[in-house]
Amino acid sequence: MERLRVALVIAAVVAVGASDTNMFGGRCSRQDPNVDACLLRSFNSLAEYLKGGAPELGIEEAEPIVIDELSIALGGGPDGYRATFKDIHATGVSNMTITNVRSDLESHQFQLTLFGPHISARARYRSSGVLLLVRASGGGDYWGEYDGVKAKVYFRGAPYERDGRTYLRLQQLKLDFSVKDIQMGVENLQNGNAVLQAALNLFINTNAQELLKEMKPELKRDLADKMSRFLARILDHIPYDDWIVD
Ligand SMILES: *[C@@H]1O[C@H](CO)[C@@H](O)[C@H](O)[C@H]1NC(C)=O
Repeated sequence: MERLRVALVIAAVVAVGASDTNMFGGRCSRQDPNVDACLLRSFNSLAEYLKGGAPELGIEEAEPIVIDELSIALGGGPDGYRATFKDIHATGVSNMTITNVRSDLESHQFQLTLFGPHISARARYRSSGVLLLVRASGGGDYWGEYDGVKAKVYFRGAPYERDGRTYLRLQQLKLDFSVKDIQMGVENLQNGNAVLQAALNLFINTNAQELLKEMKPELKRDLADKMSRFLARILDHIPYDDWIVD
């Protein structure tokens, strides 16, 4: 009898280990009044697991995040300043942790707050127009150091059955973010104009938050798109009943 019980326990442990639950810090109960605190732990341990990439889920290593192109326009008219940033490589995103979770399990809605101490970005840029009375046409390298990055991610899923399991299908995802402190600059200007480089660096550092605001709509769209693909892949692989139980 005792031997049978041991065998059953081992079988149960093996069965659980073979499912995807081990990526999570454990299942969370819908009945738990602190289910959000449980989800916070689970989501963070999943994020930790996925950091280095998870080939079995088709998820690549989190670093760096690459954004093909972003552009900004300041001021109208033919001489308005325009800049396009290409091959943006951002690192430090994998160091972000989830600091808060709010869920509505009835309607399968989740809001995550994330915090990252430091994110760095490098890109190539091209600009045209006039900035601070200086003709700012040209190109070069852009660098940015962002401290205290806070993000909010909202998503809603819809449950469906597949092979006798319940999964969530991503219905909607929105995100927003803020940066406490920004330092950035341009270097290696193509025409090597020191006056222009100094003017640009002065301008972008005194207007860093304004520039971020200008870039935000495009940046948010791109990041929400990346995040949606990432999350859809996770939801496709990990049954909902593997993380939420009654
Ligand atoms: C993550 O944080 C650690 C500790 O501060 C740091 O050493 C590491 O370089 C960071 N990783 C990235 C990709 O920025």
